[in-house]
Amino acid sequence: MGLGIGWGGFAAALGGSGVGALRYMFPNVLYEPPTVFKIGKPDDYGIGVDNKLKKERQIWVVRNERGIYVMVAICRHLGCTPNWFDDQKKFRCPCHGSIYDVAGNVVGGPAPRTLWRAALSIDPVDGQIVVNFTQRQDPDPKGTEEGLMVDEKSREVPPFFLEV
Ligand code: FES
Repeated sequence: MGLGIGWGGFAAALGGSGVGALRYMFPNVLYEPPTVFKIGKPDDYGIGVDNKLKKERQIWVVRNERGIYVMVAICRHLGCTPNWFDDQKKFRCPCHGSIYDVAGNVVGGPAPRTLWRAALSIDPVDGQIVVNFTQRQDPDPKGTEEGLMVDEKSREVPPFFLEV
């Protein structure tokens, strides 16, 4: 009996050190996505909302007649991911129904702020657009009959807009 407990304790001690060794080999590292990244050249984006980086980078790339801006695909209500509906020209959040226009203005639902726009620059070496995901434009919107609106001209300024 005593021998059994002895071996059990020995095995438990071995097991414990084994777990410790394994934890040493696989440390707790949090793999965060990069906050500054390249998204290709301006010519890669046509007029309208480009959805292709929403899943990987949490952004939409939008080109209008004047240039390009990048919107962060995070709802300003509680952080869900809205969807772009090209037929309606609206972003709609599936969680509580916030609706945004193509500029990110709030035209319905509980969102208290307009969608963020991320800072942009052009890499002088390869000509690609560089997005800084954490540097964001967040102007105070005005309450109007259409919703919470921001004057578009005031948003189309560097580093949040590329005239291209
Ligand atoms: S999180 Fe988008 S409407 Fe609530």
